[in-house]
Amino acid sequence: MSNEWDEYAEDWDIDPTVEEYAKNVFSELLDNINIDGLSVLDFGCGTGALTQLISPTVKSIVAIDPSSEMIKRLDKKALDNVCSISDYLSEELIERLPEFKNKFDLIVASSVCGFLPDYEATLSLLKSLLKNGGVFVQWDWLSEDDSSGKGLSEKRVKQAFEVNQFVNTNISSPFVMNSSKGSMPVLMAIGKNA
Ligand SMILES: C[S@@+](CC[C@H](N)C(=O)[O-])C[C@H]1O[C@@H](n2cnc3c(N)ncnc32)[C@H](O)[C@@H]1O
Repeated sequence: MSNEWDEYAEDWDIDPTVEEYAKNVFSELLDNINIDGLSVLDFGCGTGALTQLISPTVKSIVAIDPSSEMIKRLDKKALDNVCSISDYLSEELIERLPEFKNKFDLIVASSVCGFLPDYEATLSLLKSLLKNGGVFVQWDWLSEDDSSGKGLSEKRVKQAFEVNQFVNTNISSPFVMNSSKGSMPVLMAIGKNA
């Protein structure tokens, strides 16, 4: 499956910003969750910048992304415990693919949710894939203005977590990415499936 992210795939893994972002995300993940032996869904995995960091510690990872070019690069990394899917997540896909037969302990979405056409509906689908007690974590550009198309506000994320009845919700801005365009704060949101 191809999409508008295909054109970024070739240079994704050599972009130092991508590496720095993934390292920050991984560090925050470890600070908040014990990932030892978990079954994980990496939603919007791209080339697997985060997938490859968590792969040695977790039991298994299903890594899904609609960009076939991104997934091609992940597949080249030949990570033992990672199974990739190049497609959009939908109820139909969940019912059809054996990879979704068992629910997940942890779902991560690193720099994905802010790009979704319907963040709230996707969050509901993702929650349906969590085990009881399973945890969802997302990282996105923090934006004050939800109509800018450049990130998500804390208010919108909080509401979406409430509507989807996540518990033990924690929303923060744990790190900032600096570039020539200025400083961009990153939002991290954690929610548990009761
Ligand atoms: C900024 S990249 C992040 C990739 C990866 N998570 C990382 O941290 O390197 C955004 C990713 O979201 C994916 N994406 C875009 N629309 C999506 C959708 N509707 N569902 C799932 N993933 C999507 C893109 O294909 C792209 O790989």
